Amino acid sequence: METPLSNKSKFKSFEHQVAGHKGVMVDDDQLMVIKPSVAPEKLFYELAIPNTIFKQFIPEYYGVLKPHNGTAEVGQLSQDCEGSVGCTSPAKRSKTSTTEPLQGIVHGQEQEEYICIQNLLHGFAKPCVMDIKIGSRLYDDSADETKRQRMIKKALETTSSTLGFYVCGIKVQDPSSDASTSYDRPWCKSLTKITIRKAFSAFFPESLGKEFRNYLINQFVLELKEYRDVVKNQDLKMYSSSLLFVYDSGLNRRNAFFSKNNVSCDADTRKDSEVFINEDSEEEGDDAKKETDIALLDMRAIDFAHSSWTPGSKINTDYLEGLDKLIEILQLEIKN
Ligand SMILES: Nc1ncnc2c1ncn2[C@@H]1O[C@H](COP(=O)(O)OP(=O)(O)OP(=O)(O)O)[C@@H](O)[C@H]1O
Ligand SMILES: [Mg+2]
Repeated sequence: METPLSNKSKFKSFEHQVAGHKGVMVDDDQLMVIKPSVAPEKLFYELAIPNTIFKQFIPEYYGVLKPHNGTAEVGQLSQDCEGSVGCTSPAKRSKTSTTEPLQGIVHGQEQEEYICIQNLLHGFAKPCVMDIKIGSRLYDDSADETKRQRMIKKALETTSSTLGFYVCGIKVQDPSSDASTSYDRPWCKSLTKITIRKAFSAFFPESLGKEFRNYLINQFVLELKEYRDVVKNQDLKMYSSSLLFVYDSGLNRRNAFFSKNNVSCDADTRKDSEVFINEDSEEEGDDAKKETDIALLDMRAIDFAHSSWTPGSKINTDYLEGLDKLIEILQLEIKN
C-alpha cells in the first residue's frame, strides 16, 4: 500500500487497516495510528477532550502532524504540531506529563495533515479487526446535492439502508498459524439483510471454539449497550462513522483466558467487561501489572470526518437505530 510519506519515513503503512481510504500509517513502535486528516475530524477529537465519558469510547488523540512543503525532515516533529495538543509519543505520555518530540523523517505533500491517534491494536499478538459503519444516512449537513445523492445511492447498495449498519472490512488471523483472511470491499458490499450473518461467522470463526467465541460476542454486546447508553445523551451528529471491533486470537493469550490464575476482571472501570492478561503477574507487583495489562478485546468509535458536536441537539436517530439492529443481530450469534 502506498503512503504519502517517503520511504525514508519512520512511519509505515498499517498492515491491519481493513477499510477506508489508503494512507493509514503506524509509527515504528505501532503505538500510534497516523491518518490523513480533514478539519472536521480533527475538530471532533479536540472538542471531545473534556468529555470524559464519551472519550472512553474513541481512540486517544495525540495531535496533528503537518509536514513542511513536501520536503523530508528529520527530528523535532512536535514543532509541526498545531493547537494545544502536543504530538507526543503515547509511550512517553503514559510516563510523563511533558511533551516529548517524536523523532522521524516526514515527507508529505504540501497542505497535508495527519491526525495521530491511539493504535487500538497495540499489544495484540494476532489482532482480528472488523469495521462497521453505523447509521443509514452517510452524509453530513454540509454535503451538496450531488454528494447527498451519491451517498444515498451508496446506502441503498449496502445494508446501511436496510439494517442501519454496514460491515465494511474484516481481517481475521488464524490462532495457530501465520495465516490471515481478509474480507474485502466487494465481499462486504455483497452482504444483504438476509446474508449479513456471514460477516459475523467470518469475524468469529468456529475455530475459536464455542466458549471463547461466545465470550467475545457477549462482551461486544455489553460494550455496545454501554456505548448506546452514553451516545444517546450526547449532543452529536454522527454520519458515516464506524465502530472498530478488535480481539486477539493469539493462542497464548487465549490459553491465558482459560487459565483462571492469569485472568482478572477489573470491575471498577468501563473495561470491566474485558479480560486483561498479564504474563508477568507472578514476578511483579500490582503497579507493574497495571503497566503491562493489555485488553483481549476492544470496541471504539472511529472515523469522524462527517461527525460534529451539536450543542442542544442530541444524536441522530438513524445512528441509534443502527446500533440497536447491530446488537439484535450480534446476539443471534451466541450459541447454546
Ligand atoms: N485508532 C485506530 N486503531 C487501529 N486501526 C485503526 C484506527 N483508526 C483507523 N484504523 C484502521 O484504518 C481504517 C480506516 O480508518 P478510517 O475509517 O478512520 O479512515 P477513512 O479513510 O476516513 O475512512 P472512510 O473511507 O471510511 O471515510 C479502519 O478500517 C481501521 O482498519
Ligand atoms: Mg472509515
